[in-house]
Amino acid sequence: MATTTLPTPADLQIKPHDRRFGRKAQLSRLWHGGQVEATAIYNALSTTFPAGEAFFVESVRAFRDGAPPKLAEEIKAFTTQEAIHSREHDAFNKRAADAGYDLTKLEQQVEHRLSFTRSRTPIAHLAATMGLEHFTAIFAHQLLANPRHLAGADPETAELWRWHSYEEIEHKGVAYDTWLHATRHWSRWKRWKIKAKVMLLTSRNFVVDRTTGAIELMRQDGVTGARAWARLLWYLWVHPGMFRKIAGAWGRYFLPGFHPWNEDDRHLLRVYEANADSAPEPERKVRRAV
Ligand SMILES: [Fe+2]
Ligand SMILES: [Fe+2]
Repeated sequence: MATTTLPTPADLQIKPHDRRFGRKAQLSRLWHGGQVEATAIYNALSTTFPAGEAFFVESVRAFRDGAPPKLAEEIKAFTTQEAIHSREHDAFNKRAADAGYDLTKLEQQVEHRLSFTRSRTPIAHLAATMGLEHFTAIFAHQLLANPRHLAGADPETAELWRWHSYEEIEHKGVAYDTWLHATRHWSRWKRWKIKAKVMLLTSRNFVVDRTTGAIELMRQDGVTGARAWARLLWYLWVHPGMFRKIAGAWGRYFLPGFHPWNEDDRHLLRVYEANADSAPEPERKVRRAV
């Protein structure tokens, strides 16, 4: 039988923190520092989470039978974390709609992509999830490492993004380890080929869909045409340049021997715990969403 050595830290404990954000006050429309393009791209990203993270959970849980006990526990914690993220982003999206945005087109696009992915095999679902989880983890790393990304944002909404980022880093190896377990009898070449192909397709769709989604939301704020594209592309690729800053980490996914925990970035979690408005309470028990 093929064996796999997982670089996920042996002492890593994934603990869901059941928090709620923004239930008390109305969201101001341009919540991200009054900037149309910043608000638009974060709103576009948030639109993907309720349905997208439910899909991640389905994809990973389809392979939990026979998983080693530590991985099985991690899958449970991952499921709980993603269920709570979905709930909080669903609540956020409703507040963005109350602030005047029509998210229907963006939500339809997410459903369109998901229905295509669901028509493929369960292992392709897992490969897509693993790719998007890498995307999420490197985005989360950059968000926590560089305060410029959320500078000027509404404090509670910024905290929603930081809390989500914290948990994404914590569980960043779960989909990958599930994949390594599910494909343990495959050759390294076959694993790499499927993983790379799915990542390329998923990344293209992700970048195109989020960018066009943000352009649609900017249109709803009266910013259109070349002006909208220039402002958004500058924001994403130049300053603060989230997409440019995660490009190197994205590329490492294709290297032989890649694993999300090849980079141990738990120092960001410690910094978050020390500075958060309401730091996660590691011992707090939350209802299992499984
Ligand atoms: Fe999440
Ligand atoms: Fe995740």
